[in-house]
Amino acid sequence: MCKMTDKLIKKSVDEFYTDGAHYWAEVPATVDGMLGGFGHISQVDIRGSKTFIKQLLTSKSPPGRDYALDCGAGIGRITKFLLTNVFNKVDLVEQNPLFLDQAKKYLGTQLDLKIGKYYAVGLQNFDPEPCKYDVIWIQWVLGHLTDEDFIKFFQKCQKGLKDNGYFIVKENITSNNEIEMDEQDSSVTRPMLLLKELFKKANLEVFRQEKQTNFPKGIYSVYMFALRPKKSQEIDDLSDTKVLETELKNNVGT
Ligand SMILES: C[S@@+](CC[C@H](N)C(=O)[O-])C[C@H]1O[C@@H](n2cnc3c(N)ncnc32)[C@H](O)[C@@H]1O
Repeated sequence: MCKMTDKLIKKSVDEFYTDGAHYWAEVPATVDGMLGGFGHISQVDIRGSKTFIKQLLTSKSPPGRDYALDCGAGIGRITKFLLTNVFNKVDLVEQNPLFLDQAKKYLGTQLDLKIGKYYAVGLQNFDPEPCKYDVIWIQWVLGHLTDEDFIKFFQKCQKGLKDNGYFIVKENITSNNEIEMDEQDSSVTRPMLLLKELFKKANLEVFRQEKQTNFPKGIYSVYMFALRPKKSQEIDDLSDTKVLETELKNNVGT
């Protein structure tokens, strides 16, 4: 079993989330803001995602193409350039309401019919409508969840997937097998091993996995995962993460 993130976060869970929200409240509502100054990689990112989703759609067990959810959507960059091209309808969930206000302008009237709901809520508090989505897209936001909320988020969202629905996760991965904490934006970057362990604890199996290519050198490796709920196995016991949650609370003020 690898190290868990929650032990590393030397603040309360509430502070972890409010510090993250305060950070994003100061970030410009632009593509460059969403990508931490790396706005120029947006097209390459979207191209890699398009190829990945096309492969999933032409696999033996493809998801439907009706409804997608964009998680940690920001101003709707992925909704605009990827999800609305593939799905009939897209909902967005994002903790910063100002980004969602900007998303309404950024997506423009042309995409009006393609956009469903805007949910201004943190993923740690999000509950989807049951059986609504063919694909739930989660990109560059899971580092803002504690391990416990990461698992709970996927457990809750499994109920929001249709039969044969998928999660697609696209995230930075550390290369040294360590968890790295970023105090500036109050997020963590996880190693592959931990990510896989959390997927397992959320009762998910990796259907497909691919590394994003053609990103500049010197940034984290980025991986895409297509995940689906395991049919047969019981959800792993969460008692481990409950213990860690208690430890985390005890860290307040240290
Ligand atoms: C690096 S940006 C990525 C935005 C978008 N996924 C993209 O790739 O263009 C991270 C986004 O996650 C949002 N975020 C941070 N913490 C969150 C949370 N707990 N729940 C939902 N969204 C969150 C931020 O406000 C920001 O819009």
